[in-house]
Amino acid sequence: MKDQLESLRASTIDLTEQTFDIKALGDARIRILGRKGELTGILRGLKDLPVEERSRIGQLANHIKIELEQLFDAREAHLRNEIERAQLATESIDITLAGRRMVLGKSHILNRVTRELVEVFSGLGFQLAEGPEVEIDYYNFEALNIPKDHPARDMQDTFYFSENVLLRTHTSPVQIRTMEKRKPPVKVICPGKVYRRDADVTHSPMFMQIEGLWVDKEVSFSDLKGVLTAFVREYFGDKLDLRFRPSFFPFTEPSAEVDIQCVICGGSGCRTCSFTGWLEILGSGMVDPALYKFVNYDPEVYTGFAFGLGIERVAMLKYGIPDIRLFYENDVRFLNQF
Ligand code: DAH
Repeated sequence: MKDQLESLRASTIDLTEQTFDIKALGDARIRILGRKGELTGILRGLKDLPVEERSRIGQLANHIKIELEQLFDAREAHLRNEIERAQLATESIDITLAGRRMVLGKSHILNRVTRELVEVFSGLGFQLAEGPEVEIDYYNFEALNIPKDHPARDMQDTFYFSENVLLRTHTSPVQIRTMEKRKPPVKVICPGKVYRRDADVTHSPMFMQIEGLWVDKEVSFSDLKGVLTAFVREYFGDKLDLRFRPSFFPFTEPSAEVDIQCVICGGSGCRTCSFTGWLEILGSGMVDPALYKFVNYDPEVYTGFAFGLGIERVAMLKYGIPDIRLFYENDVRFLNQF
């Protein structure tokens, strides 16, 4: 029986070495080591042996079984490895081929300018505030000292959902909403989209503004000048001069518009600035005390100033963009330049 076992061992070693097919190897394993296989067949005679012989042969059979199992495992691993190598050799990867370009999105230029503006004003101590784009008449007009039938409404016709619900025409309603919610000091910057019934080279029915408001004890016109001058210097550099021009807004008194020297011609006069050398960038003024009545602030105690600037306008000046419609046409050849 010992000889039978040794011969099975030897023939199995030969067999595995000559088997190159994984399936055939698996079949051979079952035929030899399986429950009804050749090894079990040999061991069937075990019960007829004398007791001490039986345990010796039993031990030998066990060793041979373990050895052969390992042999089959090793051969199988070897064959799998060979298959993989052969596959790699035929399906070779050309590492010199150009890769596929991933197209990365980026912020829209107007969002980028908005972020830049918010950053500048944050540096001057302003906090971010926001309000809804669908607004009610009260916040958009009434509480900003623009009663029904006031001629100032003519320049701000908009899209109405009903008599009292409309798309806001400016970010100024956020002034009222903020003051209603908080006691002074308030010092906020409010960017957002606004809407008007307007469309030509310099007007879009939807555009963006940024509103600023600072109300506290003893905020004066020189603070207004200081903050807005600091902003222009920071954002447009100190080569361009700026000027304050008297103006009118129903919600500020006195009111001023700010012009900067034309970024295109530097002030000598060109088509962009209609040969004046100056470009208007924002409206501003001291908050009209009439507004404080609507938000329960004491006009004898508090003063403040506000300003509103068009983000497209600022972006056009900063980046030399000639037509406001470019912002909204979504032509990637334009958008990718920024
Ligand atoms: N809301 C004004 C507009 O859209 C702009 C403006 C002017 C805002 C003066 C202000 C301001 O806060 O003080 O035309």
